[in-house]
Amino acid sequence: MGTFQVLDHPLIQHKLTIIRNRDTGTKVFREVVNEISTLMAYEVSRDMPLEDVEVTTPIVKTVKKQLAGKKVAIVPILRAGLGMVDGFLNLIPAAKVGHIGMYRDEETLQPVEYFVKMPADIDQRQIFVVDPMLATGGSAIMAIDALKQRGANNFKFMCLVAAPEGVKALQEAHPDVDIYTAALDDSLNEDGYIVPGLGDAGDRLFGTK
Ligand code: URA
Repeated sequence: MGTFQVLDHPLIQHKLTIIRNRDTGTKVFREVVNEISTLMAYEVSRDMPLEDVEVTTPIVKTVKKQLAGKKVAIVPILRAGLGMVDGFLNLIPAAKVGHIGMYRDEETLQPVEYFVKMPADIDQRQIFVVDPMLATGGSAIMAIDALKQRGANNFKFMCLVAAPEGVKALQEAHPDVDIYTAALDDSLNEDGYIVPGLGDAGDRLFGTK
């Protein structure tokens, strides 16, 4: 079973409260999502492999560590996932970016896939699928299904706010995936929104409605 972690560093909790506030406007919402994503990238990259490298300091020659250069891809689920990309790339700038487009049918609340564009060597990459809200889990499950069909096999999923229902569904559908969230909220309401949540992440990021 993959791991499930709530990344509740005080800075992350503080910033999350800012974006939960309905009075926070688009500009600040976008900036703070970016900041949280950078902080989360720091945490989710903890197990990145290292290798020995020889380095000459002003004093002596020694052997220390550097990243082993394992290939990484970040895959935002469109459209709200886009808000987490730049913050992640702040720390892992060499990551490739794949895109997967899913929208939620307003009536059935089921995700529908409409666009997939991945790096060619997706099967060799550590993939970070990102979407701010893990609500029913439908989009995340379908996105990871679509990536597995294309050969991807090494996943971590990152969101800002998760509902217990979404975590359970994702764990059951993809037990190999590590899940990271900034907060685990109470529940989903009858419209499929996370409670207390932060509203529609895509609308709040892009100023639509
Ligand atoms: N998607 C959102 O943007 N917000 C929710 O609360 C649930 C799904």
